[in-house]
Amino acid sequence: MEEGFVAVAKVADVPPGTMTFVAVERERIVLAHVEGGFYALRDVCGHRNAPLSRGKLEGCIVECPLHFAQFDIRTGKYLDGPYSADVPAYECRVEGDTVYLKR
Ligand code: FES
Repeated sequence: MEEGFVAVAKVADVPPGTMTFVAVERERIVLAHVEGGFYALRDVCGHRNAPLSRGKLEGCIVECPLHFAQFDIRTGKYLDGPYSADVPAYECRVEGDTVYLKR
C-alpha cells in the first residue's frame, strides 16, 4: 500500500450497510461500508462532539446519537438537524482483505 495509508480493519469485519469505530494514532474515526465502498469520517459530530459511530446508519446517512444531526457518511457533509459543521473525511482504499485509510 502507498505511503501514508494505514491498515484500520479487515473487510469482513465491516459488513455492507454497517459502520464501526476505529482508532488511528489516538484519533477517533468511524468507518462505514456502504454502496460497495468504504468511507471514513472523524468520529466527532460537528455540533457538540458526540461519537457518530454510536449513532444510526441508514443508507449513506449517519445520524448523530445525541441531537440527531445527519451527515453524508461518504463525504462528511452536513445534511440536516441542529446546526453543525461538516465532518472531516478520510480517503479509504481496499487491498486484499484489508481496509486502509489515508492519514
Ligand atoms: S452532538 Fe451531534 S447533533 Fe448535537
